[in-house]
Amino acid sequence: MVLSRRRFLQYSSGVAATALVGCNLNTKADASIASYDLTAGPKDFQLLPGRPATKGLGYRGDAALPILRVRQGQPLRVALNNQLGEVTTIHWHGLRLPNPMDGVPYLTQKPIADGETFVYEFTPPDAGSFWFHPHANSLQQAGRGLAGALIVDEAEPVGFDEDLPLIIKDWVVDEDTGQFTELTTPKGAARAGTFGNVRTVNGEILPRYNLPAGGWVRLRLFNVDVTRIYKVMLKGDDEAEAQIIAMDGMPLATPRPLSREAIGPGMRVDLAVHVPEREGAEFWLQNTSTSQPWTMAHFTAVAVDKPVAKDRPKLPVNPIPAVDLQGAPVIPFRFDTGFGSGYAICGGSMSREYPVYWTVNNTSLPQSPVLMPPLATLKRGQTAIFELHNNTPHSHPIHLHGYSFTILDSNKQEIDPYHADTVLLSPKERVRFAFLADNPGAWMYHCHIIEHQESGMSGNIQVS
Ligand code: C2O
Ligand code: CU
Repeated sequence: MVLSRRRFLQYSSGVAATALVGCNLNTKADASIASYDLTAGPKDFQLLPGRPATKGLGYRGDAALPILRVRQGQPLRVALNNQLGEVTTIHWHGLRLPNPMDGVPYLTQKPIADGETFVYEFTPPDAGSFWFHPHANSLQQAGRGLAGALIVDEAEPVGFDEDLPLIIKDWVVDEDTGQFTELTTPKGAARAGTFGNVRTVNGEILPRYNLPAGGWVRLRLFNVDVTRIYKVMLKGDDEAEAQIIAMDGMPLATPRPLSREAIGPGMRVDLAVHVPEREGAEFWLQNTSTSQPWTMAHFTAVAVDKPVAKDRPKLPVNPIPAVDLQGAPVIPFRFDTGFGSGYAICGGSMSREYPVYWTVNNTSLPQSPVLMPPLATLKRGQTAIFELHNNTPHSHPIHLHGYSFTILDSNKQEIDPYHADTVLLSPKERVRFAFLADNPGAWMYHCHIIEHQESGMSGNIQVS
């Protein structure tokens, strides 16, 4: 053991990761429950070396962006105390959970008032990489730092030598003062969004990690940014083989090589990486979605004093109910540009005026707040096929709450059907996905570029 293992110990599964979160794992309570206390409030983020800390909003604790862990099938209990000075909620992105735990103000719960505590309790049925964020004043709250990862560990360990979460987020801050500038502009909201200029992984610009030479490592990429679609690849002096093994937490039937994978806001990609055998070999994660690519995180292969996995570990499938496409209704959704203004829920008031730039089936959330009639009503127990049509010149990561659907096909790319909770539509793309509507309730269905969501590309569907 020659080199420091600080990095990969910090992010190892189990106790170390929990301690890093800075929220209390309540060991006094029933040990079969994973229990966390979270406080949302003002938080300093040391993003820029040698500059003042960025005064943002966050979940208190040592980690910039907390990581919660629970085992598949283990009850999770999170008590959220709100110290933000305005209402908030937590939405558990990608989780198949009971509707009252979904964290959407007015639609699924009363917004949590300043000073109040709300307890979220549910049992994750699926293992994988999930995340959480507020669903109130989302651009400001998530944009300023309220986001975290929720890792649901497989019931049995799958055998990676290392498990490293990489939480990706850009920040819209002045690089001298470290403080936030405008998180949204009309120009951004009506187009691809307002991009952050300070780019971080795990709250750090270009973090460096040691990984076990010759081992198999699971890199969990979480795009918690409110705007940017990344296109990631792995590069290095020695080839580090990288396979995509899961999308949005759900294992792929057949893993495929990583090659400039587009990851929209809200999406997760799990990679199995074979670390080069050569000690000291370096490789890095690169974003190639802009004309100037940049390195997001850097890795060094280090010797370890224990045997490493010989073959790529396999992920067990999750118990997603099968779809029955025979006779299933096909429901069209057209995502389009729009114009006008409306009213939206914001910071607890129903009365803030919002511009409308986007629509779904000719309606938009701001024109009729979140209690608007659903875009579609599904019979519980039936399979539904959603046919999405992006009729705009921009890309949209469209997210459905409460479900993991099966992406079936696209008019623009070959698709090997897979499970996801967010589908990235490229300009003019048409995609079909299907799911068994077994989870009753009203579920949000929206673009995860938050400026688009808050200017009209949002609605809900009802399962009853
Ligand atoms: Cu992560 Cu309604 O979203
Ligand atoms: Cu969008």
